[in-house]
Amino acid sequence: MKLLILNGVNLNLTGTREKGVYGQQTLEEINRELQTYAEEHGYSVDCVQSNLEGELCNYIHNAQGKYDGIVLNAGAYTHYSVAIRDAIAAVSVPVVEVHMSNVYAREEFRHKSVLTEVCRGEILGFGKNSYLLAMESFRL
Ligand code: DQA
Repeated sequence: MKLLILNGVNLNLTGTREKGVYGQQTLEEINRELQTYAEEHGYSVDCVQSNLEGELCNYIHNAQGKYDGIVLNAGAYTHYSVAIRDAIAAVSVPVVEVHMSNVYAREEFRHKSVLTEVCRGEILGFGKNSYLLAMESFRL
């Protein structure tokens, strides 16, 4: 099994931005942990991040036929990107939406995701472990 961990806008600042919400670890450190975990459990993950909406769509398009699933934290694009939603709907590779924070305990504009309907499922509120739980969901 091969998964793509796809992080969107501002996630590159994890570890320095809003540490109380997103934690102290950098995205690189988190990705390394996810990679190690996957290897220990007999599968592999590639980790990529972009702040650009179109580039995130490209990653989703190109995942077709290459990956068994995508773990997607689209960041703020989650709440309004019809382009990313359409990209997910356009491919048959399953996508699990993740958020580190519990978006429902935060501002109201974060309560709406335009992506969830076209995703296999959604995992949120467990910090970096949201990624891990999403990865594991592909093994069930
Ligand atoms: C986030 C939640 C989003 O609302 C926010 O814009 C982010 C990160 C999360 O991981 O909790 O950038 O996706």
